[in-house]
Amino acid sequence: MTTDTSPIYDLRGLERSYPSGDGKVDAVAGIDLRIERGEFVVVAGPSGSGKTTLLQLLGALDRPTRGELRFEGRDLAGAGDGELTELRLRRIGFVFQQFNLIPTLTAQQNVEAAIAPTGAPGRAAQARAAELLGRVGLGSRARHLPSQLSGGEQQRVAIARALANRPDVLLADEPTGNLDSATGQEIMSLIHSLHADGLTIVLITHDPAIAGSAPRVIRLRDGRVDPSGAPLAATA
Ligand SMILES: Nc1ncnc2c1ncn2[C@@H]1O[C@H](COP(=O)(O)OP(=O)(O)OP(=O)(O)O)[C@@H](O)[C@H]1O
Ligand SMILES: [Mg+2]
Repeated sequence: MTTDTSPIYDLRGLERSYPSGDGKVDAVAGIDLRIERGEFVVVAGPSGSGKTTLLQLLGALDRPTRGELRFEGRDLAGAGDGELTELRLRRIGFVFQQFNLIPTLTAQQNVEAAIAPTGAPGRAAQARAAELLGRVGLGSRARHLPSQLSGGEQQRVAIARALANRPDVLLADEPTGNLDSATGQEIMSLIHSLHADGLTIVLITHDPAIAGSAPRVIRLRDGRVDPSGAPLAATA
């Protein structure tokens, strides 16, 4: 086992702006942030404060306009498209508010489809998908289509899919946003158990109860980390 003590993420002066009319919107407007391996970080803040923009940068789905963004020591700002694709495929798992499952594939096939691009042979991919569905508590639902699953179950499939390639970090953008609060809590328990197994988690939420249960909360305001760490408003 390696004992790498370097941070998984190291952000310095990170900026991402979008053109808007005659000017620009500074969605991420200068963020300095270090996230250690194995951390569980919640990103909170009002609508439009830059949470999704930040997560897309962390997930190598987008590139900063300025500043430094290091993931496992690699500079993502300067990385080529091929390198970013490879990182997304091998090292980063994503979960979204909309579960984004393929409606015509079963739970098992949805997870297998995420394994396939890594070149795992068919039978190994099947076994791995079955193992992952068991891990998220859906062993008995493997043959169901998404339309035959509850929202919470669909999100479990999406989490299994995100874990397909043994990522180093799980990035989640409001994973409980479409679920009732009891189901949301079950999904959060699952995510906490993945963290307990060693996975690094960065999770966006609007829910003060979820933020309250996280070991570390980063609150954004106008694209920056809010240094006041103001308490979360229920509607934020
Ligand atoms: N592709 C884009 N083009 C132009 N502006 C964008 C784009 N994406 C985001 N923005 C703007 O950047 C700002 C931050 O958006 P972002 O989606 O990161 O906010 P958020 O904190 O995730 O909000 P919410 O809680 O509503 O999801 C907003 O003003 C938004 O309108
Ligand atoms: Mg968002």
